Amino acid sequence: MSEFMNNLRRTTMCGVLGMANVGEEVVVMGWTQRRRNLGSLIFVDLRDRTGLVQIVFDDTTAKEVFAKAESIRSEYVLAVKGKVRERSSKTDKIATGAIEILADELKILSEADTTPFEILDDTNVNETLRLKYRYLDLRRPSLQRNFIIRNEICKAARRFFDDNNFLEVETPMLGRSTPEGARDYLVPSRVHEGCFYALPQSPQLYKQLLMISGFDRYYQIARCFRDEDLRANRQPEFTQIDVEMSFVEEVEDVMHPIEGLIKNVFKSTLNLDLGEGHFRTMTYREAMENYGSDKPDTRFDIKIVNCSDLFANSTFKVFTDALAVEIGPIRGSVRAINAKGLSSGFSRKDLDATVEYAKTLGAKGLCWMNWPVGGEIKSSIAKFLSEDDIANIKERMNFEEGDVIFLAADKDYVVFNTLGGIRLYVADKFNLIDKDRYDILWVTEFPMFEWSEEENRFMAVHHPFTSPMTEDLDLIDVAPEKVRTKAYDLVINGQEAGGGSIRIHSREIQKKMFNVLGFTDEDIEKKFGFFVGAFNYGTPPHGGLAFGLDRLTMLICKDDSIRDVIAFPKVQTASCLMSDAPSFVEDKQLDELAISIKNKAISR
Ligand code: AMO
Repeated sequence: MSEFMNNLRRTTMCGVLGMANVGEEVVVMGWTQRRRNLGSLIFVDLRDRTGLVQIVFDDTTAKEVFAKAESIRSEYVLAVKGKVRERSSKTDKIATGAIEILADELKILSEADTTPFEILDDTNVNETLRLKYRYLDLRRPSLQRNFIIRNEICKAARRFFDDNNFLEVETPMLGRSTPEGARDYLVPSRVHEGCFYALPQSPQLYKQLLMISGFDRYYQIARCFRDEDLRANRQPEFTQIDVEMSFVEEVEDVMHPIEGLIKNVFKSTLNLDLGEGHFRTMTYREAMENYGSDKPDTRFDIKIVNCSDLFANSTFKVFTDALAVEIGPIRGSVRAINAKGLSSGFSRKDLDATVEYAKTLGAKGLCWMNWPVGGEIKSSIAKFLSEDDIANIKERMNFEEGDVIFLAADKDYVVFNTLGGIRLYVADKFNLIDKDRYDILWVTEFPMFEWSEEENRFMAVHHPFTSPMTEDLDLIDVAPEKVRTKAYDLVINGQEAGGGSIRIHSREIQKKMFNVLGFTDEDIEKKFGFFVGAFNYGTPPHGGLAFGLDRLTMLICKDDSIRDVIAFPKVQTASCLMSDAPSFVEDKQLDELAISIKNKAISR
């Protein structure tokens, strides 16, 4: 029979077969994971999205089919018809390990060259090569599982939104710059020479306008673009589960219903019940003071303690300088953490490495005090510490034999960042984190403004449409640094999974906000004229939030890299190793856009 006439139709997927199918005639299709030729017996492990199944060709197989099987190589695409039978030697290494398919028909659907790397989950092939051949990398079961989970999250989210009367609305990709604080990706307009669209950093302005239009409850699984420095949990192009609701005025009006979304997602993806109660809430201030981060990982119990008062009369200049800081509203402090019982884990070399790590977090240095069991306290600042200092630290920090203390002194935000980072570093070094736990909490009461030392003025921490807390309204003019907002972030395992706020819907307050930020009427008109104008025509109180779908997937998949949950991700330099984007374009294309490249040396 010719290959063309042998038209097999798939009847089942590979990975779903089991003892219940024994005796059935099936047709499976997939990729060759492995072929073993034992002379009179050929085994093929066939792989599809659902898993592997073993195919057997033996002396009962027709001669021409057996001959064809001999030509099979790794990653050949096959269609196999055969009978499911119980295996004589079972394995629990694969889900279908109790059965195999005795083949009686074989069609080679496609041959494959030797792949640049073997398609294995347990791979040590470097990521650069894997990303260059991403379509092969994506054949790996662990990556496929991530995308199945990602899809499950979207399905659960859509179900939740459907059940709760949300309306999905798409907003433009080609728009005006949105004020999310990162750099925009710009798209030149051909028709309007010299003009640019901005790709959305988020649908923020549009979704608020939809509330003014009366859409009441909106959601969108929306692609967002931000030209910012990439990290393990950031991509230039990412997806938000974006939400906005009308007639909400307090943070709980958004936080509480949205907890249902997260609970649904965890239930459908992990079958994990997050319980009936509301998620834990921690104020921004508590989070910073105790954990040095607005996305605290509270799965382990090391807290930051303020020791500033203990060193008010210190002879150590680093401490006294820090305590004297007064830059706008910025102050300095001396704070510490106690790595309890971990003294024996810190050799001198480890302590030095910890100090070096602190420097990567922006610290000028890090002081330590190490008290080995049965030994003397050693310290990098021993000569500056009086007996009293040591006694005070022992008491304040519950510093006992076997402990190591790390102290940081600088501007508050540097101290928080340093000790926040060091507590994570210690947790990682000593495996203090129970990776099986999901630690979910809201962080609330974010400050409205932060002081920019560079620009010597206040900047909005969130976008400038975030509502101040009602009780802090009077502080906007007199003490902007004290104003807290109706903003909230959802933190999962020390990562910001989502965030949002109740928005300002009063023109007066909006005006005050812009004043503190130093926007002139002209700036406002130019930047947000169309948006601010809309507020004149009847604006419901409203608020919302957005989850990072990629981050949420990453957390649920327990993966450390956002790249593992994005099909075709970019690398650190914001390029795609597979397609080589971004690339130079033809001069003709530039001419049409009336664009010329300033630096001729870098264009073609
Ligand atoms: P925000 O800027 O906090 O809020 O973004 C919301 C969530 O999006 C995810 N996220 C990212 N994920 C991957 N790569 C990135 N570069 C990236 N940047 C952000 C995070 C984050 O929590 N418009 C507001 C939301 C609102 O107020 O409704 C906004 O975009 O998980």
